[in-house]
Amino acid sequence: MSIHKFPHNFLWGAATASYQIEGAWNEDGKGESIWDRFSHTPGKITNADTGDVACDHYHRYTEDIALMRTLGLKAYRFSTAWARVFPSGRGCINTKGLDFYDRLVDAMCAANLEPFLTLYHWDLPQALQDQGGWTNRNTAYAFADYAAVMTKCLGDRVRNWTTFNEPSVITFIGNLTGEHAPGIKDTKISYQVAHNLNVAHGLGVQAIRSANSKVNAGIVLNLWMAEPATEATQDVEAANNFWDVNETLFLDPIFKGFYPPAVYEAIGEKMPEIKDGDLALIAQELDFVGINYYSRNVISASGKMNKIPGSAYTEMGWEVCAPALRRMLVKINSEYKLPPIYITENGSAFQDTISSDGKIHDPERTDYLRQHFIQTHLAMQDGVDIRGYMVWSLLDNFEWGHGFSKRFGMVRVDYETQKRTIKDSGEWYAEVIRTNQVRE
Ligand code: FCB
Repeated sequence: MSIHKFPHNFLWGAATASYQIEGAWNEDGKGESIWDRFSHTPGKITNADTGDVACDHYHRYTEDIALMRTLGLKAYRFSTAWARVFPSGRGCINTKGLDFYDRLVDAMCAANLEPFLTLYHWDLPQALQDQGGWTNRNTAYAFADYAAVMTKCLGDRVRNWTTFNEPSVITFIGNLTGEHAPGIKDTKISYQVAHNLNVAHGLGVQAIRSANSKVNAGIVLNLWMAEPATEATQDVEAANNFWDVNETLFLDPIFKGFYPPAVYEAIGEKMPEIKDGDLALIAQELDFVGINYYSRNVISASGKMNKIPGSAYTEMGWEVCAPALRRMLVKINSEYKLPPIYITENGSAFQDTISSDGKIHDPERTDYLRQHFIQTHLAMQDGVDIRGYMVWSLLDNFEWGHGFSKRFGMVRVDYETQKRTIKDSGEWYAEVIRTNQVRE
């Protein structure tokens, strides 16, 4: 049996996001966000679920931080709800909203957790959406103001700042397929959104740094490795092209300073308006990059394959393929000059059942994590500089369009009673953290 021993300062953690766990959607002066609006619109979310209460974390954060201590986490990745702090997106600060994050961060520090703060995990203030949202370049300036206020207030305790979580999901699921808020379905708009997000990222990094020169700034990108169905040249070319068109829209401008030629070819005149200086603004040097990895796409010359024979799938219908994580990390590490990497999300949804002993035995989730930890360790041995790992997710939570029907947590949440129960995978993770190693 081989043992994968991690460096002593490797940061093991867990991740969540404001809308998915906080609840208290209209308390203490919070403004409406696009996710409040979207989930309150009939027909958008499975079972008409909403994040109105979710895990009620707004009121139960002390208990949740105690859980993190029980698990022995060293880091906690969370996001702040822009509309809690600026109910209309800009202008007057809602001090009660800011106070919540102030208390939350204090509680993390008291529990010896390294905070990783994400400024934008998809919950844009509705008031800004009413003025065009991310299609309006002014939203990028409002974002930079919000970033500055948050950094001034929390930068003395929060060292790691992320501008955006998964800009490609905002772009394509929010504005091309319309399955996420704000529910727009328009190719031209989606690419304009992508560019404005990139601009907002650049402005955000500048704002964070001028508010506090000591903190680290980065971004979190979700990447699905693209792999050929066979070794035939046509499949390999199709997979490479799929990667270039679908996965490099943020990697290239941020780490190379230009938009990928393959995207120009695919999109043509629907490419966004780019102003002079934008590309330099976007390519700010970063202190870290977060990578979210869940699965891969398998591509043949005739398109994307639906089911891979012999592969296991999660409840999301995503193939379990940990070796593709290693291959992808090695690939991006050789193609880009990257800062230190954190795996900022990785995890799986499975149908959990409560056993007669009251426990949640979730061997598939444990096995999923084990495989991905091992492949990450192998990538580190290949020379990729990976500093930490945030499991998605600490708690079962509101899984966007799927509502509460998909459970990703290492801790079960009973949404009727708000009772938390650590699943077997959580116990297993605690042991990984304690020993700082994974056994094959
Ligand atoms: C990612 C999101 C996260 C969660 C996981 C399952 O795309 O960042 O909020 O929904 O997927």
